[in-house]
Amino acid sequence: MKVLGVENLKVSTDGKIVVNGVSLHVNSGETVLLFGPNGSGKTSLAMAILGHPNYRIIGGRIYFYDRDVTEFPIEKRVSLGITAAFQFSPELKGIKLMELAREIAEKHGVSEDTLKELIEILQVSHLLNRHTNVGFSGGERKRVEILLTTLQAPKFVVFDEPDSGVDRDSILIISKAIEKMFELGLKGALIITHTGFLAKHLKANRAYVMLDHRIVCEGPAEIISDHIAKYGFDMCILKRQAGYYELA
Ligand SMILES: Nc1ncnc2c1ncn2[C@@H]1O[C@H](COP(=O)(O)OP(=O)(O)OP(=O)(O)O)[C@@H](O)[C@H]1O
Ligand SMILES: [Mg+2]
Repeated sequence: MKVLGVENLKVSTDGKIVVNGVSLHVNSGETVLLFGPNGSGKTSLAMAILGHPNYRIIGGRIYFYDRDVTEFPIEKRVSLGITAAFQFSPELKGIKLMELAREIAEKHGVSEDTLKELIEILQVSHLLNRHTNVGFSGGERKRVEILLTTLQAPKFVVFDEPDSGVDRDSILIISKAIEKMFELGLKGALIITHTGFLAKHLKANRAYVMLDHRIVCEGPAEIISDHIAKYGFDMCILKRQAGYYELA
């Protein structure tokens, strides 16, 4: 069963087409990777899936299970369980991390025990009494973003580069947290990434590659991530021509 279905999606922002006819899906229980060079449209796609008002859908459809959510505003999508963990999380001066974490957990029915467990998995206990993200390191911010996303008890998450700018230990920590999210009721994940490290820990099922605002190929996550590491993104096109990957 498909948790997320994106069909021939076209998105514009600021008068520019940033997603140009993208189709992809995430089945129940799947972790799917989305690779692509800088500027190819990955974050724009994530924004459109979440329903950010600055990203105008000018063609195609987005389905959450069997429901067409293309026209739904962001709040309605979030209430259905669609969420995103973004590349850059904001500083919240005056709001201590623990207060914020408790409030989100309570709102979404996540128990205190689970909150404690997540704090331990993500190794953020030293940050709890500080103002959220203020002066946090890049890696700490990523872990906090994953914590706050998990506490929303989502059904589907787009993670926008959860592994960029973090060391290998933190990648392992983030993978464990994503596994925990599945235990807590997550049904599918789309992970935008430049590296394959996360794929190895998470046993990702499939991967897509986005180039110039389109998906250019789809295939097994490990094969695609190894090829990108070895040959870069052009190889993806060459292999596609050789019939190695499926055309998405
Ligand atoms: N709000 C916006 N206003 C103007 N241009 C935008 C906006 N958002 C995205 N773009 C442009 O759309 C293109 C795709 O950007 P996007 O952020 O989706 O790329 P990306 O694949 O996520 O890249 P990266 O790997 O660097 O994060 C870029 O050329 C970017 O400048
Ligand atoms: Mg991006």
